[in-house]
Amino acid sequence: MSEGLGKTLDSTTAVILAAGQGTRMKSALPKVLHSVAGRPLVHYPVRAALEAGCGEVVVVVGHGRERLEAYLTESFGASGRVRTAVQKEQRGTGDAARAGLDAVRPGAERVLIFYGDVPLLTAADVAAVAKKLDEDKEAVVAIATCTTNDPFGYGRVMRDVRGDIVEIREQKDLRSDEERAIKEWNPGIYAASVAFLKQALASLEPNNAQGEYYLTDIVSFATKRGERVASVPSNPAVMDGINDRAQLAKGERAMMERLLEKHRVAGVTVRDGARIEDSVVIEKDATIESFAVLRGNTRVGAGALVDVGCVLTNADIGEGVTLKPYSIVTDSVVRARAQIGPFSHLRPESDIGEDAHVGNFVETKKTRLDRGAKANHLAYLGDGFVGENANVGAGTIFCNYDGFQKQITRIGKNAFIGSDSQLVAPVTIGDGAYVGTGTTVTKDVPADALAIGRAKQENKEGYASRLRARLKAQKEAAAKKPPGG
Ligand code: UD1
Ligand code: CA
Repeated sequence: MSEGLGKTLDSTTAVILAAGQGTRMKSALPKVLHSVAGRPLVHYPVRAALEAGCGEVVVVVGHGRERLEAYLTESFGASGRVRTAVQKEQRGTGDAARAGLDAVRPGAERVLIFYGDVPLLTAADVAAVAKKLDEDKEAVVAIATCTTNDPFGYGRVMRDVRGDIVEIREQKDLRSDEERAIKEWNPGIYAASVAFLKQALASLEPNNAQGEYYLTDIVSFATKRGERVASVPSNPAVMDGINDRAQLAKGERAMMERLLEKHRVAGVTVRDGARIEDSVVIEKDATIESFAVLRGNTRVGAGALVDVGCVLTNADIGEGVTLKPYSIVTDSVVRARAQIGPFSHLRPESDIGEDAHVGNFVETKKTRLDRGAKANHLAYLGDGFVGENANVGAGTIFCNYDGFQKQITRIGKNAFIGSDSQLVAPVTIGDGAYVGTGTTVTKDVPADALAIGRAKQENKEGYASRLRARLKAQKEAAAKKPPGG
């Protein structure tokens, strides 16, 4: 798609309005930085403009400008096509468009203007409006329009008896029930020549219910001069603007459904109720079960299973890995065919080798397990290395922190760490060494040695029944005493 569109929109600049505070969000965070499927709202319209092939994209910023600019640079800087323009005071969409237009490079012929709070629109939706302007030689402006039964809140498209567009009137400026009953509304995508916009935007006056400069008034500017405004019937399902958090939730639901569908069509089994952020990559024949949450730069390899309730954040999951239910993986790598969980917690910089096993209630942090190593139950492995095929028993703790510094624990290949051992770092267990159950290891263990450090066991014959008799007698004596005596 992008290829075909790219050629035609080379000399088109997209101006995306994103300077408003978003009062209705009731938030300290600027509206367009609120997250939808793991990315700020504004990401999607900018991406749509780039995918449509617009030669340059000017994002109009104002409220929360520094954060927004930082995000745009980080996310789109590499494209070399995204710049910002500043709207100093938020005096309305018309004023914002003017700020955007001032920043458009000389040589640009046509401008596509749309809003930064419409996350679901696609490259095809915006390109269609530019195309309309090309095709309809009479028209000076082309706009998208939508028709639905309840367009409350949107600007309405007013037409004359012949069906020609006359103006767009905002909800708050509608004067009668007939006007309020108009079902055709303005989703906010406009295409026009730079020359026309210069004149139209210069003419705007803030004489309306909100005392703002309305971008929508470029329509009546054209029609009052007897010029034509063309329209493109557009898909209302992708045109919802986000103004409050209820709409944010609704928009995100739709985005999530779109993303799950994309993975399904690409050969991934995705159960209902999974949450997969926009940035996640999943290879085919992976299975993502219900209530799994995949965030950030997570990648899931072919044939892997991410079972119910797993939470993956920037996780690199190899081919054929099994993540059993309720495992948490953050900023970590799990290599091919490893088995994790249920209830494992892999904290940042864990690296779990091929065919390795990490079982229930095992926590790892900055620890590498080599191929085939196992820690199957109840352990804390922090700041360590576990060699190939080593076995770490239940209840083992890497005592990595002395209150001041983190120290390293190294376990050689084929070593065996008995259950309930404490390895006090810095410490090294040699290849093939054996640590006896319940040992507190404070000194390095040579390869193939046995380390054992626990009190010798003693059995006292008959002691248990004597003890029971004594304790029972004590309890009975206490019950006979008068209260307070
Ligand atoms: C706008 C349209 C309305 C349309 C609706 C579609 C106008 C006057 N109205 O209304 O016809 O149906 O979008 O979603 O254009 N912004 C600025 N600077 C400002 C004001 C706003 O950059 O001074 C930006 C905002 O950050 C936002 C976008 O413009 O991303 C739209 O502004 P918003 O206040 O949400 O407009 P609506 O009331 O939704
Ligand atoms: Ca809006």
